[in-house]
Amino acid sequence: MFNFTYFTPTEVFFGKGTETQAGVLVKKYGGKKVLIHYGSGSVVRSGLLGRVKASLEEQGISYVELGGVVPNPVLSLVYKGIDLAKREGVDFILAVGGGSVIDSAKAIGYGVANEGDVWDLFEHTCTAKACLPVGTILTIAAAGSEMSMSSVITKEEGLKKRAYDDDLSRPRFAIMNPELTVTLPDYQTACGCTDILMHTMERYFTNGGNMEITDSIAEALMRTVISNARILKNDPKNYDARAEIMWAGSLSHNGLTGCGNDGGDFATHMLEHEVGGLYNVAHGAGLAAVWGSWARYVMKDCLPRFKKFAVHVMGIKDSGDDEAVALKGIEALEGFFQEIGMPISFKELGIKASEEDLALMAKKCVAAVGGTQGSAKVLTEPDMIAVYRMANA
Ligand code: NZQ
Ligand code: ZN
Repeated sequence: MFNFTYFTPTEVFFGKGTETQAGVLVKKYGGKKVLIHYGSGSVVRSGLLGRVKASLEEQGISYVELGGVVPNPVLSLVYKGIDLAKREGVDFILAVGGGSVIDSAKAIGYGVANEGDVWDLFEHTCTAKACLPVGTILTIAAAGSEMSMSSVITKEEGLKKRAYDDDLSRPRFAIMNPELTVTLPDYQTACGCTDILMHTMERYFTNGGNMEITDSIAEALMRTVISNARILKNDPKNYDARAEIMWAGSLSHNGLTGCGNDGGDFATHMLEHEVGGLYNVAHGAGLAAVWGSWARYVMKDCLPRFKKFAVHVMGIKDSGDDEAVALKGIEALEGFFQEIGMPISFKELGIKASEEDLALMAKKCVAAVGGTQGSAKVLTEPDMIAVYRMANA
């Protein structure tokens, strides 16, 4: 077990009707001029944006708006947001949407509060000194950005998708009303469930510092996500299942399921970011398409964990043959992905990458992670190409 810090400063407001508290909460956290940031229209169509504005107006808080965030949010809109926020004297950013909106809000927050080009943070050539306070109203359970330290942005030029991690951007509050997620297309719900699972799996498949208490929390979380994703497949309006998934999404990526270990593997995530950057696929679907190939490639280097996952999470019987059990666990999870409509290969994801593109993604991944990535197995550039090739087969 390794030493760890567990820092989760985000105040959570969970349940029906909680979005009406937006104005009160912005005031509590000192916001006087707010930038309301949102996506491509779902919050307008659902009426949520109107309710949020009314809540701010009730508290006498003025605001400006910037919509148009797209999945795999882009740098050009971040620049636009920074200009707008500076021009209008914005002191608080309210993100109304999913991970893409929240990440874009965090990036704008950095851009306003620091000198220089905000993209330099994502290239890791400097670090942030501050970030404007961000509050969130979550509309999709997936990325966990409502409590996380990450912002993931794509620079259109060169299609570079990069993350910047810093506690400074952890949201001040997260409003989570599971009812807000019932308007999601089934595909997005499934993508979200996959991403949530993966955030814990990235922390579970490691070769360093594992703790029993962390494993127990992680395994319970993974089982809960799988069983409730199955419920939502047949009953998408089920409030309790939506709530289980939503809370799991936050706990999966706020650090809880990684306490005591070596920081996690995160190779699947880093490999997927390049797929998302190049082909603009939904993050969760990209993860599902890469994971099985990664798992088969690294399994022997992390066998006890794969076996434990198979038995404790996927319910595989321990036959005593560790490799066979581990493999059955991988197959069972892939079966679950397919059951909820997720792809388990590039072909099912709808892409056919050329050898040049596989090499390009591996090269960009190496640049993004600074060389190698992984804990279950440390992946070098040739390893990354090999995993991509398996997913592309
Ligand atoms: O833009 P709108 O119109 O709102 O539509 C969105 C979008 O098309 C739609 N949607 C969201 N809530 C809805 C809804 N549609 C109907 N009803 C609702 N209630 O869903 C689509 C996907 O939204 P998006 O925000 O992109 O999804 P998600 O939360 O999965 O975020 C994905 C982004 O987060 C990054 C990913 O790489 C990706 O760019 N990640 C961020 C992380 C972090 N900051 O900690 C960690 C993750 O691993 C991930 O990398
Ligand atoms: Zn993710």
